Amino acid sequence: MTLVTITGGAGFIGSHLAQRLLGEGSTVRVLDSLDPFYDPALKRRNLAELAAAGGDRFEFLEGDLRDAAACRAAVDGADAVVHLAALAGVRPSLRDPVRYMDVNVTGTQLLLQQIESPQTRFVFGSSSSVYGGNTKVPFAESDRVDRPISPYAASKKAGEVQCYTWHHLRGNATTCLRFFTVYGPRQRPEMAIHQFARRITDGQAIPFFGDGSSRRDYTYVEDIVSGVVAAMGRTQGYAIYNLGGAATTSLGELVQQLENALDKKAIIDRQPDQPGDVPITYADVSLAGRELGYRVTTPLHDGVQKFCAWI
Ligand SMILES: NC(=O)c1ccc[n+]([C@@H]2O[C@H](COP(=O)([O-])OP(=O)(O)OC[C@H]3O[C@@H](n4cnc5c(N)ncnc54)[C@H](O)[C@@H]3O)[C@@H](O)[C@H]2O)c1
Repeated sequence: MTLVTITGGAGFIGSHLAQRLLGEGSTVRVLDSLDPFYDPALKRRNLAELAAAGGDRFEFLEGDLRDAAACRAAVDGADAVVHLAALAGVRPSLRDPVRYMDVNVTGTQLLLQQIESPQTRFVFGSSSSVYGGNTKVPFAESDRVDRPISPYAASKKAGEVQCYTWHHLRGNATTCLRFFTVYGPRQRPEMAIHQFARRITDGQAIPFFGDGSSRRDYTYVEDIVSGVVAAMGRTQGYAIYNLGGAATTSLGELVQQLENALDKKAIIDRQPDQPGDVPITYADVSLAGRELGYRVTTPLHDGVQKFCAWI
């Protein structure tokens, strides 16, 4: 693989992917608007690390997904496009659904339309949130995903459908990857693991939604990156895969793991369940295992240690 375009490559997952690809000798082009959803200084720091690692094999284009010319420049000549730029997060999407749809749906459409070569492989960063309130566990790709329960989830489901349509029309090899709560160094600051770790360290109370029994499947970012790289190797067809940690952890257990890793007790601020939150996420990764060679290499205990060392 020579030239890989990563939309959202200044962000958490995208910057890890860029780092891996630069390390493997690829040329990487990032399109990112440095959206202020969280401090753009953190994204600039990620970009500075990538520029240092990649030298002239790294290119950054500051631009918006909703700008056709910016998308065209970004995908020009790319062997693969990994589309990670999005407004992420369930709860903020309840406050500003139109903007979420604009960036995540209109932006995805604009990007897809700019890809001219049918040889360009397309990988889309979808989300476990498409499973909505699914109670059948673990979640398999064949489960129903037509009942998303937040605007963010609806926008990710829409993205998968748009990808299919464009694959049908243009023939590009296309892979949608449903990421299950990703964590690791550079994680978005509003995500639970990051926010909890900072608050425990600073002696501030952590917001604890519901009774602590909700369960999440957490995935270490390097495992996600390996799954994305494997998906970039697909040369034909359209496919959807779960990429998860294939285990579940309750909110209460997560806090205990952070307390152990940080060697400090958490102060708990109990709050009611949030609309749009799902009771459980749990990935069946057997399809990704068979077809992409995907493996979970970092269980939560080890990943939390690495994350807390970074914090
Ligand atoms: N982190 C997770 O747990 C998780 C789980 C499921 C899915 N995902 C998906 O993975 C992708 C990456 O997530 P992340 O956690 O790295 O988030 P992130 O916010 O760190 O990265 C997204 C990047 O997209 C950029 N962006 C936002 N709007 C843009 C626009 N209009 N034009 C160009 N760039 C824009 C942002 O500046 C940011 O750098 C997203 O699509 C997200 O929905 C993430």
